[in-house]
Amino acid sequence: MAILIDGTLFSLTTKDSLYQMQVDEYGVLNHLWYGPKTGMDMSYLNQYPEISFSGNLADTGVKRDYSLNDRPLEYAEGGMTDYRTPAVRILHPDGSSALDLRYAGYELLQSKPEIDHLPASFDRSQQTPALKITLKDALYPIFVHLFYSPFEQENVIARSVCIENRSDHLLTLDKVSSLCLDLPDGNLDVIHFHGRHAMERLVERLPVGFGTFRFESRRGNSSHQHNPAVILAQPHTTETHGACYGACLLYSGCYQVEVQKDQLEQIRLIMGLEESTFRWKLNPGQVFNAPEALLSYSNKGLEMLSHQFHDMFREHVIRSSFVHRPRPILINNWEATYFDFNGKKLLEIADAAQECGIDLFVLDDGWFGNRNSDTESLGDWQVNEEKLGMPLANLSKAIHEKQMQFGLWIEPEMVSEESQLFKDHPEWVLWIPGRYPSRSRHQLVLDLGNPEVVGYLYQTFAKIIADNQIDYIKWDMNRSISDFYSSYLPKQRQGELAHRYMLGVYELADRLTSDFPNVLFEGCAGGGGRFDGGMLYYFPQYWCSDNTDAHCRTQIQYGTSFFYPISAVGSHVSAVPNHQTGRMSSLETRATVAMAGTFGYELDLTVLGPEECEQIQKQVKVYKDLQPLIFDGDYYRLTDPFQDGLAAWSFVAKDGSQVLVQSVIYEQKPNTRYSRIQLRGLDSNGLYRKDGTDACYTGAALMEGGMLLNLPHGTDSSQTIRLSKVGPHPSENIQG
Ligand code: DGJ
Repeated sequence: MAILIDGTLFSLTTKDSLYQMQVDEYGVLNHLWYGPKTGMDMSYLNQYPEISFSGNLADTGVKRDYSLNDRPLEYAEGGMTDYRTPAVRILHPDGSSALDLRYAGYELLQSKPEIDHLPASFDRSQQTPALKITLKDALYPIFVHLFYSPFEQENVIARSVCIENRSDHLLTLDKVSSLCLDLPDGNLDVIHFHGRHAMERLVERLPVGFGTFRFESRRGNSSHQHNPAVILAQPHTTETHGACYGACLLYSGCYQVEVQKDQLEQIRLIMGLEESTFRWKLNPGQVFNAPEALLSYSNKGLEMLSHQFHDMFREHVIRSSFVHRPRPILINNWEATYFDFNGKKLLEIADAAQECGIDLFVLDDGWFGNRNSDTESLGDWQVNEEKLGMPLANLSKAIHEKQMQFGLWIEPEMVSEESQLFKDHPEWVLWIPGRYPSRSRHQLVLDLGNPEVVGYLYQTFAKIIADNQIDYIKWDMNRSISDFYSSYLPKQRQGELAHRYMLGVYELADRLTSDFPNVLFEGCAGGGGRFDGGMLYYFPQYWCSDNTDAHCRTQIQYGTSFFYPISAVGSHVSAVPNHQTGRMSSLETRATVAMAGTFGYELDLTVLGPEECEQIQKQVKVYKDLQPLIFDGDYYRLTDPFQDGLAAWSFVAKDGSQVLVQSVIYEQKPNTRYSRIQLRGLDSNGLYRKDGTDACYTGAALMEGGMLLNLPHGTDSSQTIRLSKVGPHPSENIQG
C-alpha cells in the first residue's frame, strides 16, 4: 500500500522513495523524511536541543527545546514562533494574521480527486489513492487540507492544498502555497530555469546560501523569464549519480518559488501563488484550492529525475488522447510569410508540403479582421475573405482535398484597440480606473476573470472550429499582463484577478478541448512563455520557443527536458539565415534538432530547390518512423550544451530495442580527435547494431567506451545514429 498510517505516523511510498510525516505531542504536523526508503519511522531525527531565540508555543509550558522555528514543518504557518518563510498567511478580521495549525484528522481516499477548475494529475485506472490531512487553526475554525497522492511507478507525489473557512467572518488569504518541504540537508544546489523571450529555460545551478533564494513570475503567465520548476540537488549530483529533488507547479499564472536556508542549515522549499499579485477574500463556508505541485526524488541523478517527470507528464498529466497518438508533421506559414499572404500563396505552400509528405497545414496569424500587422484586429475573429480570396471553410476544404489536415492560429486572450470588440466592450479589458492600459505588442488583455468574456470567447472559437473543419489549433498569448484591474470585480476583490484570470483561461481551454477532443491543440505564448504543467494538462504540445535557430534550440530544448517530455516540445525547421539569429545551419542540422520534438516546418517551401525538397521528403519519412521512439522512449542528455561545445542526446525505447543518438557539434577545430560520446540506458550485455552497417557493439562498450562522432567540418554540423538491439551478446564472442 502506497499510504501507510500508523497512529500519528503517515508514510507515503513510491517505487523508490519514502515520504514521512508525524503529528507530534502538541498536534503539530512535522515533516520527517523525504528520500530513499529506510524501512522505519524516521522521527528519531526530529530532536532539537534548545536553540536560543527560538520561541516556544504557549502550550509547551516550560519546555524550552521545542520551537516551531527549528522543526521541519509540513505546512509552515507564520506568526507562532516560526520565523522562516511561511507557506500560508491569512488576515483575520481582528487585524492579526497568525495561524497556529494543529492536526485535526485525516481521510484516506481510494482514488485521487480532481481539483475544481484547476489542472491536476490523474490516474485513469483509479489506482492512485489520496491522503487528506486536515489541520485547524487553534483559535478560529479555519481548516487547511493537505492532499498527497503517491504515483508509485513514476516516483512522484502530487500535492495540493485547500483552505476552508468555517468561521463566520470573511478571511483574506495573503499567501497560499501548494508545496512546503523542509529538508534537513543544508548543503544543496538549486537548479532553476531562467531566460527571456526566444531564449527560454536556460539552466543555472547555484549552491543554496543562507537567506532566501527566490524567483517568481508577476507577469500573469508563468513566463519566459522563469519556469515554475526547481531542482534541489546534492553538490556532487550529476546526470547519473547523487540525490536530487524536483518540484514543479501545474500552474500557468503568477507563482513564486522560495528556497530558504536557515540558521540550522536546514532548507525549506516553498512553491505557490505569487504573493504581491494575490489577495483572496474567502467568505464563510467557502474553500480555496491552491494549484497542484508535483514532487519527485531521485537518488540516481538528474536523468532519473527527468525520466520520472517525463513519465508522469505522459501518463498522468497530459490528458489529451493525442499524448499517445501519432502526431502530424506540420507546415506553418508564419516564418514563411508573416502577415503577407493570400489564399493563393497559402495553397502553393500547401502543395509543396503535400509533395514532401507533410500532414498538416497551419495558417498562423493574419487571417482575420484587418490583420496585416500586429497593430490591429485582435478580437475581430471574422475571416478576412478578401485576403484569403475565399471563405475559411473553402481554404480548409482545399487543404483537405490535398489529403492534408488544416490548422489555425488564434489568440483568444487579447484585443487590439483597433478592433470592433474593443469599441463594443472596452469594459472587457484589464484597465485600472483613471489610467490608460499599457500596451505590449500593441495589444491589450481581455478580462478572463469575467465569466461573460470567457463565455463569449468560447462561443466565438467553438463556432470557428466547428464551421471550418479545423484539425489543429495553435493557441497563442503574446504579452505579459499588467494593469491588473477588472471592472467585473468589486474593488476589494481586485487582488483575486491574477488567479481568476488563470481560472478563466483554464475554463476556456477545458471547454474547447473537451468539446473538440479530435482537434490537436498546441499551446504558445510568444514561444515558450507559458510552457508549464498547467497548460500541458490541456494541450499535449507547446511551441517551445520563437527561436527556431538550431544552435540555440539545442540549449533551449536541453533546459526544457529537465521536467517536460519531448513529445510536448513544439519544434520546427525554419529558413536560413535564421530569422532570429541570422545563423546559417544545414537543413540536416535543422531537422536533427527539430526532430527532438513534435517536428514540423516553418519556411516557404515553394522557394526551395529540388534537392532540398527531396531531403525534406526523406526527413518526413525518417521522422514518421522515429516518432514512437522519440515520444515514448527515455530521453538522455548526453552532454551539457552550455559547457561541452557539443549537444548530444539520445532516446532509448522502453523495451530497449531501439536507440537514437542525435548530436550537433558547434564548432569544428582542426587536428583534434573525434568527439567521443558515452551512451546511457543500454543493456551492458546487449549487442547493438548500428543501422545501415554491420558494425555491432556491446552495450557496455557504448556506455563505457562510447561512440565516436565523425562529424563533418563546419559549424553546427549534426549526426544521427540509430542502433538496434540484436540480442544479448554471445559471451564467447566478447573480446577481452
Ligand atoms: C508568436 C508565436 O510564437 C509565433 O509563432 C507566431 O504565431 C506569432 N506569435 C504570430 O503573431
